[in-house]
Amino acid sequence: MRILALLLVMLVPAAGPALKDLMPKGMLIGAAINKSQSDGTDTVADAIVEQQFNTISPENILKWGLVHPEPERYDFEPADHYVDFGQKHGMKVIGHNLVWHQQTPAWVFTDANGQRLSRERLLERMHDHIKTVVGRYRGRIHGWDVVNEAFDEDGTLRKSLWRDGIGDDYLLKAFEFAREADPQAELYYNDYNLWKPAKRSGALRLVKQLKDAGLRIDAVGEQGHWNMTAPSLDEIEATITDIAGAGVKAMITELDIDVLPRDPKMFGADLNARQQFKAATDIYAKGLPPEQQQALAKRYADAFALFLEHREHLSRITFWGVTDAHTWLNNFPLPGRTNHPLLWDRQGQPKPAFAAVAKTLEGK
Ligand code: G3I
Repeated sequence: MRILALLLVMLVPAAGPALKDLMPKGMLIGAAINKSQSDGTDTVADAIVEQQFNTISPENILKWGLVHPEPERYDFEPADHYVDFGQKHGMKVIGHNLVWHQQTPAWVFTDANGQRLSRERLLERMHDHIKTVVGRYRGRIHGWDVVNEAFDEDGTLRKSLWRDGIGDDYLLKAFEFAREADPQAELYYNDYNLWKPAKRSGALRLVKQLKDAGLRIDAVGEQGHWNMTAPSLDEIEATITDIAGAGVKAMITELDIDVLPRDPKMFGADLNARQQFKAATDIYAKGLPPEQQQALAKRYADAFALFLEHREHLSRITFWGVTDAHTWLNNFPLPGRTNHPLLWDRQGQPKPAFAAVAKTLEGK
């Protein structure tokens, strides 16, 4: 019996610190999950999520194309599991997202004859979707990314089918409909590269417009798809303080740190060029070497030290994924590379970056 107990102690890794217990009061920490986590198939990631996090975001499950694929058909099964999973584990469940230029089916913008919808009919469609989806999880989803990625890099509104069909006030309308569907839910604007001042100015302008219109906005999310050098800590700090200065909380909503080389030419490249880029840049296919592990650990530790300094302005930090096995960065901007942007490796083992984040939080 004693030998068995000893064996068990040796085999089961020590639980170690849980990030959720180390975070300062009022700042949530979470990860984006997919169907394979909320339905219990990915037991490795599930164990991590249950132990470490107190909030979850849906990486894909609640996007329009998945939850509302056809005009008269909603598919709520994965989303129901996702919300149940979070509630079962006492987590704050996040909704992502209601209005976006991607992952929205073409039918949303046209009538049965393929003709573009009038402003009124498109508004009606947006209203129905938000009312149905937000309404279904009223009181169960803590906060919603109402509009995602509406600005271009220069801070002007991005050209999109939403904007073409409704006009520049489509963002305000989305926030109005979301508040109506669940007056208690927090409402967010979410975008990447808000650490760039020009782009950030667009999001800050939106916060002011919403407040001037008497609408609800609780926080702005800088997604946090960063790399080893950009943004600088000063740029991250300015992002947090500027958002807080606009009178809302800041959040880092999709945090991951790309360790692979990227080239702007990768984006439009043809198949042949992509294969060449892949061969030249998939440099850690056999694993992240110790030196790069340490560099990643330091990058994360520095970011978390900064988050702690601004704890009063930050309400949530969410990683975009759980382990390196399933990060979207394995397939972006090139498919099939081996990236290492998260705190757990492909086997679900904590990386030096995990220990570095935990140590930073322990020293708070
Ligand atoms: O599920 C299908 C599968 O059936 C099919 O065989 C396969 C073939 O391409 O596609 C699968 O769907 C993919 C889906 O991810 C699930 O893996 C889609 O093609 C792919 O486009 C989709 O990518 C997601 C992307 O958003 C677009 O929605 C990524 O997982 C997700 O990480 C990414 O998340 C976005 C945030 O929502 C907004 N901010 C940026 C962030 C990263 O791009």
